[in-house]
Amino acid sequence: MTDHIKTSKAEGVLTLMMDRPDKKNALTDAMYKVLADQLEAAQEDGEVRVILIRGAGEAFTAGNDIGEFAAAAAGGGALGNVVRFIKALANNDKPLVAAVQGRAVGVGTTMLLHCDHVILADDAQLSTPFVSLALVPEAASSLLLPARIGHLRAFSMLALGEPVSAGDAVAWGLANATVPAAQLGSAAAEIVQRLARQPLGALIATKRLMRDAGTVTAHMDVESAQFVARLSSPEAREAFMAFAQRRAPDYTPFR
Ligand code: COA
Repeated sequence: MTDHIKTSKAEGVLTLMMDRPDKKNALTDAMYKVLADQLEAAQEDGEVRVILIRGAGEAFTAGNDIGEFAAAAAGGGALGNVVRFIKALANNDKPLVAAVQGRAVGVGTTMLLHCDHVILADDAQLSTPFVSLALVPEAASSLLLPARIGHLRAFSMLALGEPVSAGDAVAWGLANATVPAAQLGSAAAEIVQRLARQPLGALIATKRLMRDAGTVTAHMDVESAQFVARLSSPEAREAFMAFAQRRAPDYTPFR
């Protein structure tokens, strides 16, 4: 158990708050476990009609904890709960809403591709620097992102780690709306309350008609195999060491 995920349930809304602000809500295996447990339980919980994902502090999340990537690469850590988490997102039938402020890096952005309504604070910035870390995309983003925003924009995001502003994210269909940062909570509350009043059976049936979870989770498996292979590459070791040493990585010795 971790106290870095805060959960609350009220009036049909399950709120999952990533709460590790001193590390920009970087996600650890223990945090993924709580998120996966909560999402899986919400599927079966008749009291949950909508799920809201948030981050505490200045950032939504800085993505996977890079120290844990390094530990997994060295054989000392597990990535099982991140896979459970992304699959629970893909398999979830209830409306998923995200309210995003500041940086949303890596899985912080790719999880949004599984959400049904995304609200951004005007300071939000989405980025997926997988290749910059010598990794490959995850959470089916190599399938979902080009489908959503086109190959060229997706390639810039995935291959170059090009950040996307809140305004562009809305224009490209990655989010519904931007609001001033101070209004993010109230804007999210309004949409989740509206969704919670809708008939749940019809909502679930509509989500199932709109998404093919089987195709998405099968693509996750293909990505995961590549991801694990890249994780232990010399390039990736250099990436993780460079992050820990607060310097730019040098990939030129590797080919
Ligand atoms: N994993 C582990 N620790 C992380 C982290 C991550 N993904 N992101 C941030 N942190 C830690 C930093 O090491 C720092 O810890 P310290 O205070 O003990 O030194 C703390 O969180 C604050 O981060 P900092 O980099 O000082 O904040 P910033 O505002 O200057 O920059 C980011 C914020 C998100 C731009 C920057 O932290 C970053 O690029 N993080 C890595 C993002 C990433 O590549 N994630 C993986 C995607 S696959």
